Amino acid sequence: MINIVKYFWVLLFVFFGTFSIRAQKTIPQVETLLSQMTLEEKIGQLNLLTPGGGIATGSVVSKNVEDKIKAGKVGGVFGVAGPEKVKQAQDIAIKNSRLKIPLLIGSDIIHGYKTTYPIPLGVSSSWDIALIEKAARLAAKEATADGINWNFSPMVDIARDPRWGRIAEGAGEDPYLGAKIAEAMVKGYQGTDLTQPNTMLACVKHLALYGAPEAGRDYHTVDMGKVKMYNQYLPPYKAAVDAGVATVMTSFNDIDGVPASGNQWLMTHLLREQWGFDGFVVSDYTSVNEMIAHGLGDLQAVSAQAINAGLDMDMVGEGFLTTLKKSVEDGKVTEAQITQACRRILEAKYKLGLFEDPYRYSDAKRPAQDILTKENRSLAKEIATKSFVLLKNHNEVLPLKQTANVALVGPLAHSRNNMLGTWAPTGELKLAVTVLEGLNNNFPNVSISYAKGANITDDPELAKKVNVFGPRVQVSDQSPETLMNEAINLAQASDVVVAVVGEATEMSGEAASRTDISIPESQKKLINALVKTGKPTVLVLMSGRPLTIQEEFDLPVSILQVWHPGVEAGNAIAEVLYGNYNPSGKLTATWPRNIGQIPIYHSAKRTGRPASVTGEFQKFKSNYLDTPNTPLLAFGYGLSYTTFEYSNLTVDKREIKQGEPVEVSVTLKNTGDYDGVEVVQLYLRDVVRSITPPKKQLKGFQKVFLKKGETKKVTITLSPDDLKFYNNNLEFVAEPGIFEVFVGTNSDTQLKTVFDLK
Ligand code: NOJ
Repeated sequence: MINIVKYFWVLLFVFFGTFSIRAQKTIPQVETLLSQMTLEEKIGQLNLLTPGGGIATGSVVSKNVEDKIKAGKVGGVFGVAGPEKVKQAQDIAIKNSRLKIPLLIGSDIIHGYKTTYPIPLGVSSSWDIALIEKAARLAAKEATADGINWNFSPMVDIARDPRWGRIAEGAGEDPYLGAKIAEAMVKGYQGTDLTQPNTMLACVKHLALYGAPEAGRDYHTVDMGKVKMYNQYLPPYKAAVDAGVATVMTSFNDIDGVPASGNQWLMTHLLREQWGFDGFVVSDYTSVNEMIAHGLGDLQAVSAQAINAGLDMDMVGEGFLTTLKKSVEDGKVTEAQITQACRRILEAKYKLGLFEDPYRYSDAKRPAQDILTKENRSLAKEIATKSFVLLKNHNEVLPLKQTANVALVGPLAHSRNNMLGTWAPTGELKLAVTVLEGLNNNFPNVSISYAKGANITDDPELAKKVNVFGPRVQVSDQSPETLMNEAINLAQASDVVVAVVGEATEMSGEAASRTDISIPESQKKLINALVKTGKPTVLVLMSGRPLTIQEEFDLPVSILQVWHPGVEAGNAIAEVLYGNYNPSGKLTATWPRNIGQIPIYHSAKRTGRPASVTGEFQKFKSNYLDTPNTPLLAFGYGLSYTTFEYSNLTVDKREIKQGEPVEVSVTLKNTGDYDGVEVVQLYLRDVVRSITPPKKQLKGFQKVFLKKGETKKVTITLSPDDLKFYNNNLEFVAEPGIFEVFVGTNSDTQLKTVFDLK
């Protein structure tokens, strides 16, 4: 009896406790507004449109946007920018719609706003979390100055298949690093107070698993078990949610057979119930409508499925706008479900302070103060220099000597349209500094001669496909032979050759998957011809993805990977080539030897038949007949002009109890001739556990600056959560047993110690 009474009170407390939490959380102003809204007006808030003018990312562009806003049929727009234009848009809503609800103004600010940073894969190669947060903060300051209050970023999709063009937009293959970057970007965009006019709503995307399409083909099927999902692919999205991200965008793919935009498990059970997300969820561009092509029914059916599954806002497709009322009448959707979605969108507007002042983001003075300032451009240059990865330094040709005459060649050496990188719709191509300009600006006394040498590709069909947003590949009127001869003549007359080669920007990005990720043939020929001149040759390699460069790597060349470096491209490249900044970037995605090794990533499993440690082929082992298992360049790889030596790896305790941290220390010495920065990386191997462990997983890193000859003790603390993983029941646990700790310069490091979790 006593127990029953006790449980009654416990239940009562839980019931009212939960109720009061919800009651506390609702915003009276929003509730009042909701009580005045018709069903149609609520549905209107769930509609996100793009009036066109900007770059469309789907085949549809919205029509009659102005009339729809007046009629209360639009909750937000994107592709509108500038304080004046945004004010006009808000005016339409405030002055002409019945309830005067301000609009959300969205945009894709993926790597900087007007001040374009390197592509995100490049930014991630800096491993500089504080800098990444600062860059996001600055991008938010610029974008909000131009009237934008909602950013469709960060894109945190883990990608282990470089054929997928959108690997360029994320932070690479690793969930630990990806989670840190996701958190930093959310904090940077949203700041500490969303009502401040220089902060904006962030939108983590694309929930979920968008980076794992079969065969690396964009929008293709994803099929993945839950254990892999939870351990390898979901952490960055969760980190964004834990950091307080205000909105989430769904992905185009299906998950366990249900497209993300109609997936109740994903949007309701995982995102809201397990992770406690309380913002709103927006679809990707027409992804609700695309559920028809996925095979889930007509527009009314898929729209009803989407809202019932937990989707709040419909991007561009207008399935919600045109069918939800009927679904309510047909009893397929409840008005309560629509009210709830509407509430979440209104709450976001409230959080931004838009009800208090709809023109908060329309200050005509701000663009001049905040956009493309000197400070912003110098940050863009800093990030670019820190994103470059030195892949090879043959005969230590780099850094270049200012006394040497340079032959600057290659189709990307003076190609302004290819500097910003994919998906920089808010950047301006004309502002970008080319490599030729960067060298001339920064080193006016160096003798530099320039020749294009080759087309990015000689294939006119490919050129047409990558020129969708304007000319990126310009096939010269001169013949390939003439172009090449010109470059060879320059090379022969110079002391050193710098060849800027690689991919045009739109050879990566959305709907830009490739099945051959090598350097295009026209440029391969150029590189080989240059090497034959016998002149020391440096390849400055631009790309939006890891490339297969085994052949070039085997040549006597040096290689600096610079991604697509953004608006300050040429200045940053010049600084690094001449050693004003010593490269410190590290790869955040593995570089395969050839396409057949894909997917290849550092945290793969050992299998029951591991290949021999020496790499020698063995029958009935997990290896290939024609290629080693190891990649060309490991995750975390990157050289410096100096060298570093690791020693004295220790842990503060050999045995720990559950819940205790472990301090890992190592001595790092700069043994080379230059000051430099090293990214010290810590990998963990859980030797025995209830589900098969990865070979090793990144669990900590630290960027350390060391003067030439200097030695430092570096300490990285492993938290109790770093030892945990999701087991077969999807419980997040640390299991007792031995953990091996590896610390070093990349994921191949063999320097090891151990501790025992009791
Ligand atoms: C489609 C892309 O997948 C998404 O990332 C982007 O935010 C939207 N288009 C809006 O431009």
